[in-house]
Amino acid sequence: MSDVVGVVLAGGEAIRLGELTRITNKHLLPLGRVPMVYHPLKRLEEAGVREVCLVTGQSHAGDFIDILGNGRVTDREGNRLIDVNLTYKVQRTAGGIAEALGLAEHFVGDDRVVVVLGDNILGGSIKPYVDSFRRQKSGARLLLKKVKEPSRFGVVEIKNGRITGIVEKPKKPKSNLIQIGVYMYDNRVFDIIPKLKRSSRGELEITDLNMQYVADEEAEFDVVRFWWMDAGTMNSFKEANSLAFKDWNALGFK
Ligand code: DAU
Repeated sequence: MSDVVGVVLAGGEAIRLGELTRITNKHLLPLGRVPMVYHPLKRLEEAGVREVCLVTGQSHAGDFIDILGNGRVTDREGNRLIDVNLTYKVQRTAGGIAEALGLAEHFVGDDRVVVVLGDNILGGSIKPYVDSFRRQKSGARLLLKKVKEPSRFGVVEIKNGRITGIVEKPKKPKSNLIQIGVYMYDNRVFDIIPKLKRSSRGELEITDLNMQYVADEEAEFDVVRFWWMDAGTMNSFKEANSLAFKDWNALGFK
């Protein structure tokens, strides 16, 4: 059975964070006691995914290398914060989440992949879900969560225990269940991405990619119960920071 490797997506433009991202990258902003991008890396490490590719935008790629180096990151006292083996890829323009994942094709090789969005922070471990994916023979595995404001996200419809639809940021969401930024795929993902069409905003959308697995009846899912935030808007950044400080011990760092 092929191994599972990780991809953290930290490209994009982050205009929703206004002045905060004028001089630095969103994923390097503080989230609790560490920069935002440490959180997805830590969750992958904890799930036993040690080979990780970080996709960044071009303008701050050097800053990521300065702070993360080869993926073995220690704090000022020398305590190990993150212990993964990092590879980097550069996404020149913000062409979408699925496009960013496509850049990791050669890194992933014949393996399967767990993708975590660089602005997601999770209040619990993803290891049980990654382990289920390791046991899964083929297809995708998505993590879902019930939220109060589903229209900000990719909203998921379920019938008879199967995902039947995912709609990106609908005005009238059909459920309060959304896809969070953790996606697991078999190697077929790299055959699907080149066939995706750009959306009206010019992006290769993660929702279109996931919908291909839904159409092929190959999309498994788990509904997570721990708290979860994406820190991509001013309000969610503020709330994610307050949760990160309050519930620091849930975040996997020693
Ligand atoms: O957080 C979960 C949500 O993430 C899902 O529910 C949505 O279905 C999914 O589309 C996504 O929505 P967002 O509007 O939050 O995506 P955003 O454009 O903020 O991108 C999220 C991360 O993906 C970002 O922190 C960096 C990475 N990214 C994004 C784009 C557009 C890239 O690496 N490259 C890109 O071109």
